[in-house]
Amino acid sequence: SVNWVLMVTAQTPTNIAVIKYWGKRDETLILPVNDSISVTLDPDHLCTTTTVAVSPSFDHDRMWLNAKEISLSGGRFQNCLREIRNCACDFEDKQKGIKIEKKDWEKLHVHIASYNNFPTAAGLASSAAGFACLVFSLAKLMNLREDQSQLSAIARQGSGSACRSLFGGFVKWIMGKDERGSDSLAVQLADEEHWNDLVIIIAVVSSRQKETSSTSGMRESVETSLLLQHRAKEVVPKRIVQMEEAIKNRDFSSFAQLACADSNQFHAVCLDTSPPIFYMNDTSHRIISYVEKWNRSEGSPQVAYTFDAGPNAVMIARNRKVATQLLQRLLFFFPPNPDTDLNSYVLGDKSILHD
Ligand code: PMV
Repeated sequence: SVNWVLMVTAQTPTNIAVIKYWGKRDETLILPVNDSISVTLDPDHLCTTTTVAVSPSFDHDRMWLNAKEISLSGGRFQNCLREIRNCACDFEDKQKGIKIEKKDWEKLHVHIASYNNFPTAAGLASSAAGFACLVFSLAKLMNLREDQSQLSAIARQGSGSACRSLFGGFVKWIMGKDERGSDSLAVQLADEEHWNDLVIIIAVVSSRQKETSSTSGMRESVETSLLLQHRAKEVVPKRIVQMEEAIKNRDFSSFAQLACADSNQFHAVCLDTSPPIFYMNDTSHRIISYVEKWNRSEGSPQVAYTFDAGPNAVMIARNRKVATQLLQRLLFFFPPNPDTDLNSYVLGDKSILHD
């Protein structure tokens, strides 16, 4: 019979880098200039849910994001789809009378429905969770035998940071040496239970879309920033070793110092780019000063901060008690803005952080 639909649903959280990926050595394959390390959020927050379906009655590949149809014609979608179809395996469900041979996957079309449980407009990275979920659910649907690391190398071709969302806990994206990217993949450093005292708080400083995409920002930095060359060769390799050690030992002081320094160096590379790229704003800078002062007054770090390609602050508190204090202080200095639907997510742009 031709009237069947096979479906798979998967859920994937986003990840936050504590040693940043910034710069590609190959733009098509998405190969980075340095290793990076991230922490994957727990699946209740900032996650993508994707349902993929295949049926002989579908006549072309289609995708919906938050219930709106989007184009799959972009090279990154096409690369992921091609790679997955290449690795697809035979599938049989005798009860339903469905038999799909490896070669049939080429001709069968997929429908993909993806949904983000956070406001897409809030400027929070969504491509990491999105591509990881897309690749994982299609791999289940098409019966791939590849392990999570091998799948991460496919997700990497959708969005670099996506490769790290194939695992929970702490994850390293190894840059690899191969020109074709076969060894540029993610590995898990420690699982989600390893250091579960940590609490992550994300302050949406501005919900405006970023002006410079990570793709063009990285390209400009690679072409013009000498600091990027120095960072990739001399700084990150040492930090990766130290960060792995800090995670292994649950050493919050080293973890926080490395994460903050690395975020600051990434934004320094952006400033060193010609023309300079500004991702952080005054509110971001005030949050940094505030956390730095707090950490210094306590004698050892209580909170780490890190910023991606936008002004929103990601803060990692060493435990729940510190997280509660942090939230209270943030809400005091930046009262939620009642004029926006993002209410609880937004710390007003205009608020002033006092000493
Ligand atoms: O994967 P992309 O193209 O969204 O780039 C992500 C870059 C940063 O978020 C700034 C750093 C990182 O390692 O996630």
